[in-house]
Formats: sequence, C-alpha cells, structure tokens
Amino acid sequence: MPALLRRKLLVLLATVALALAAAGAALAANGGFAPPPPHSPNAHRINDAYYVILGFTAAIFLLVEAALVVFVLRYRSRGRARADEGYQLYGHTRTELIWTVIPVVILALIGSFVFYKLPGIEHIPAASASNPQLHITVEGRQFYWQFTYPNGAVSIDRMHVPVGETVVLEVISRDVNHSWWIPELGGKWDAIPGHPNRTWFRVDKPGTYTGQCAELCGLQHAAMLAWVVAEPRDRYEQWVNQRAQASARLELGKEEAQGVCAKCHYFRQSEGTLVGPNLATNTRLTDIKGLTPLLRNGGIRMPAVGAYWTDAQIQALVAYFKQQNGGTSGG
Ligand code: CUA
Repeated sequence: MPALLRRKLLVLLATVALALAAAGAALAANGGFAPPPPHSPNAHRINDAYYVILGFTAAIFLLVEAALVVFVLRYRSRGRARADEGYQLYGHTRTELIWTVIPVVILALIGSFVFYKLPGIEHIPAASASNPQLHITVEGRQFYWQFTYPNGAVSIDRMHVPVGETVVLEVISRDVNHSWWIPELGGKWDAIPGHPNRTWFRVDKPGTYTGQCAELCGLQHAAMLAWVVAEPRDRYEQWVNQRAQASARLELGKEEAQGVCAKCHYFRQSEGTLVGPNLATNTRLTDIKGLTPLLRNGGIRMPAVGAYWTDAQIQALVAYFKQQNGGTSGG
C-alpha cells in the first residue's frame, strides 16, 4: 500500500472513530438529537412522527454513506489516465424504476404516518364529564408570559395546572409575535397580534416543565422562559383560589417584579446595568402615580409592559416594591 494512501486511510479511520465516539456521547446524554420525553398526548404523537422520520432518514444516510465509501475504495482510478471515462450506464429501465419507486414509497409512508398522527396533535379533545376542560389565556408580551385563569387569577411566567386534565390554551399577543413552546407538552404555537391561537395539553405526570418563547421578539427574547407546574387537582385549586384573592398581591407583585421588570433591570447597585437602567435607587418603584404611566405607556426604550394590566396588578407590583425597599434599597 503506498504511503500516501496509508496516511489518508489512517486519517479517515481516526475521523470516523472520533465521530462515532462523539455520537455515542451525545446520544447517551440526549445531546440535542432527540426531543425530550413527552408528557402530554400531543407531545407523544409529535415524538412518534419524529422517530419514524428519524428511522427512515438514518437508514438512508447509512446506506448512502456506506455505498459512497465502498465505491470510492472499490472503483478508484488505480493509476488510470485522468481523461479516461469510467463505465457509463444508459437507459437501464429497471434501475431507473427502482430508484424512482423506492423514494416515492418512502415519502408516501412518512406522509401517511404524519397525517394519521396530525389530528391527535391539533384537535383539542372534547370536554366530557370524565374529561373536563380548563381554559387558560396565555399572553406573550415583551418579555414575559402572562397566564389568566377562569377565576381571574393571574400569574407571570409560571403556569399552574392540574395533572391529568385537558388544559385548553388561548394563545394571544397584543404587541409582537411570540411563540409558546413547552417541548414536553406539545408543539409550538405562535402568539400573533389579532389572531388568537388555540392549543392544549394534558400533563401525565406531576412536575415542572420548562419552555421558551420560540419567536425572536426583541432584545430580551432569550429571557422569555416559561414553566408549567402540574400538580394534583386539589393543590391546583388551592393555589388558584388563593391567587385570586387580594391577600395574594405580594406574591403576584413578586412574580411581576421578577418576570417583567427584572428581565431588563437590575435591582441592586452592585449588579450594574442590564438592558435598562439600574433601579436600586429609583424612587418611582414605590410611587404608584409615577409608575402607572410608565407601565401603561412604556418609556423611551421600555415596552408598555403593563398596558393591559388590571389596576390590581399595578397595585400588587407597587406593594411588592414597598415591602422590598422598606424606604431604603434592596431587591
Ligand atoms: Cu417572546 Cu421571543
């Protein structure tokens, strides 16, 4: 074997070994190759479609790459003159039929499977005595998620739901496009101004599920995280009833401060400046007359984060700042 070829073969082997080792490691830790484990019927169906497509494409990839390697080695020129033509294949009807029919069949199989799964992903299960529906409004807003529950309770960034029940989400926006996405609980649904979208999930296991706004919506898009807390019905009810009461306003205020204000502002002098000015010494936070227009209309670069807030929401935020500051600083 010529030295040059041997060296090339060694490089090839080393590359393949490295790729295999990396693939093994990535696969073991699910390094982005596979979707997270599904915890809602629609998410299950999305995963099924993912794995069917992955199966076909992985098989095709291996087949093509293996054939490529075999052909490169087996039919290399072996010192033949550069201008020499290789063997040519013309009008071989059977081969042409095979390489046309097989891809058509594969595409038809993938397409049929996806269309078979699609209604179960998209269609919201009908409400019945054994399968009640809970409706929650999900509003995407620069740069937080606001959830409104049937009894009027509000939460920011963290949605509470009962486990095992169909939750119907009305996904809306009144500023720019956002996209609601909790990978373990189903697909992405865009929050588009003037065009409410509806989606759903039914969480099969108590826990906290993390998501992220999936539509570039401005400077702090990356900070637009969301969590769905799924708990047994009685604990959900306890939470939602309590949250609807005026006595929960410090809790709500804290969520607003952390989920809305803190996306762009730091509250401690030592932390410096984030997107907006540092608010450690800002006296407006505890002055409802000064703060309200800022929340309602926005500032120079600040979005009108509280344009559609209830008065109670604004009062909750100010009450929280008052409690935090106690006349001095903090946060
Ligand atoms: Cu909202 Cu990105």
